[in-house]
Amino acid sequence: MIVLGIETSCDETSVAVIKDGLLTANLISSQHFHKNFGGVVPELSSRAHLQIVNPLVKSALEKSSVKLEDIDLIAATAGPGLIGALLVGLTYAKGLSLSLNKKFVAVNHIEGHIFSGFLMEEKPEFPFLALVVSGGHTLLLLVKNFIEIYKLGSTVDDAAGEAFDKVSKLLGLGYPGGPKIQKAAEGGDAFRINFPIAELKEPYNFSFSGLKTAVLRYVQQQGGIQNLDEQHIKDIAASFQMAVIKALIQKLKRAIKSFDVKSVSIVGGVAANSLLKEKATELAYEFNNKIVIPRLEFCGDNAAMIAFRAQTLFESGITHKLDYKPYPALDE
Ligand code: KG4
Ligand code: ZN
Repeated sequence: MIVLGIETSCDETSVAVIKDGLLTANLISSQHFHKNFGGVVPELSSRAHLQIVNPLVKSALEKSSVKLEDIDLIAATAGPGLIGALLVGLTYAKGLSLSLNKKFVAVNHIEGHIFSGFLMEEKPEFPFLALVVSGGHTLLLLVKNFIEIYKLGSTVDDAAGEAFDKVSKLLGLGYPGGPKIQKAAEGGDAFRINFPIAELKEPYNFSFSGLKTAVLRYVQQQGGIQNLDEQHIKDIAASFQMAVIKALIQKLKRAIKSFDVKSVSIVGGVAANSLLKEKATELAYEFNNKIVIPRLEFCGDNAAMIAFRAQTLFESGITHKLDYKPYPALDE
């Protein structure tokens, strides 16, 4: 069984091949030029996907020693994401499926992230808790098997990665914010400023916009960014990072106590954060849970997770028709 997966939901074009259960290619082309604009520009993203998707498919097939006609299943991300960007990958996949007369599966990007731990040697064991933390989403889910997925909570405003990106911009550290904040925080004092963690009525929901405003107010109280020395900025970065990770860990701990799970999996771009990895691992050990955090290649957006998710759906008897539409938002 050969699966071709295509991911174009945001600013990474990615193509992967899974051959008889083995990942033989996971090519990722990142649109670095967005950093010049301080964030992703949707129209430029679509154009870049359009230029790179075909050569990337060719390279992935070559790398896997697979011919077009050998493919059994073609999959692409259908949403959530930027609509123009999604259209490129989804339409490409549908066209290929039509011309080769091969099965097609439309994949939900978040479900791709949820099961990305299965791309690792040590895989999650069902039932598991998945914390999806990316630039666009923050969700806590109970995953019983490949079909039964229950959302416990999500962010009511900004996503965790979005908060990293916005605060990084505010501190003049650049884009994407997560790695920049983490780097700055390495030399900072996380206990210098006590930023607040939102307490919400719903036990598993998150909120990060108040925290972002608290950082902004703090900077303003100091007379603006120009009045802060390098050490002070590092301390703010470290204190902010600590507050985000504390909020994530607090909800995760609550869920571990309430649901009888075997594993915990932290996925999405923010799962690359070393403080989050450290705290989540400590927590999982405390409750005797297996912890699976995919390696960097599978944490950010990638097509390997799309191909894998497509295969699990296919094996459950699910394929899609070629009139499948892309969707920008999560709840569609
Ligand atoms: O999953 P992803 O690659 O794309 C989306 O689907 O959003 O996640 C990107 C997000 C960005 O907001 C980025 O700042 C964040 O992940 N990120 C991090 C780190 N590396 C990437 N956040 C915190 N710490 C990191 N080391
Ligand atoms: Zn993502």
